[in-house]
Amino acid sequence: MNEKILIETASRLFADDKGLLAMDESNPTCNKRFAKLGIPQTVEARRSYRELIITAPGLAESISGVILYDETIRQQKKDGTPFLKILADAGIIPGIKVDTGAKDLAAHPGEKVTEGLDGLRNRLNEYFQMGARFAKWRAVLIIGEGIPSRSCIEANAHALARYAALCQEAGLVPIVEPEVLMDGGHTLERCRVVTEEVLRNVFVQLNCQRVLLEGIVLKPNMVLPGLTCPTQESEDEVANTTMKSLWRTVPAAVPGIAFLSGGQSAELASARLNMMNHRFKTQLPWALAFSFARAIQQPALEIWRGEEASVKSAQQVLLHRARCNRAARRGEYTQAMEKIGL
Ligand code: 13P
Repeated sequence: MNEKILIETASRLFADDKGLLAMDESNPTCNKRFAKLGIPQTVEARRSYRELIITAPGLAESISGVILYDETIRQQKKDGTPFLKILADAGIIPGIKVDTGAKDLAAHPGEKVTEGLDGLRNRLNEYFQMGARFAKWRAVLIIGEGIPSRSCIEANAHALARYAALCQEAGLVPIVEPEVLMDGGHTLERCRVVTEEVLRNVFVQLNCQRVLLEGIVLKPNMVLPGLTCPTQESEDEVANTTMKSLWRTVPAAVPGIAFLSGGQSAELASARLNMMNHRFKTQLPWALAFSFARAIQQPALEIWRGEEASVKSAQQVLLHRARCNRAARRGEYTQAMEKIGL
């Protein structure tokens, strides 16, 4: 394992208060989002949309790395320039989603386990040869009556750790993403308990599989009340509770934490990240950043809607969200930024 490469990549991903842009939706997920807006669900529409994102002028000012999907990492701009070349020229590090999705966990109704370990070593080597320097694997934990079960938490943590060890062997920094979903009516407190249990298990398994903690990126959920919970806590409480959970469970050797957005509105995701950095940044052992998909892309997607004429305005909105989140890393994001569209 080349520890130096891994540590360097991880540090570049968190440098200059930048963050990650997740644009690694699988084809079914991307198609679902397109369908809602009446965008054709074709290879060409997905390619055009990803071209819009990658060519947004000045994206690299706020974004250090993008997470791609297998289809996208092999694609080109309309003029034939490979996406990977555009990213390399801009100084943006390419990453790749390598799990093959969350599937039903046998004998555990309502629970999922993420698959993709078979043949992973070969796939990782191919992606490294192509130029990818980090990877992503997302585990999904659902809160409900009696779930997540211990066995679901352990199965997902074990798979995340096996994936992470294989990534490091191939020279790729693993993004370790255990996502406790926001869906449901559970309280903030329940999310806190589950998130802490999940993170504790993940780090036990990472250590067990001899993963170098200095060479990973943790991508957790923020600790939030369920979407339909009648009590929705303030940014302050969300920031406090999330920090408390991370402090208790994430070793100081981890270089950085890059939150997923998980279906929060774009503005709330920025405001909550900002609050955490504003209040705690100077006391933290790790960088606190973002690796958002929806909270960066969704407003732009809603403007683009598959129309060539809307590409420029969609790119402006995308860049705006990226800048807001960079400001949130510094604890300098304000509501005023949204009004004047800086
Ligand atoms: P969201 O920010 O939309 O939750 O997506 C992040 C991600 O990469 C999901 O795996």
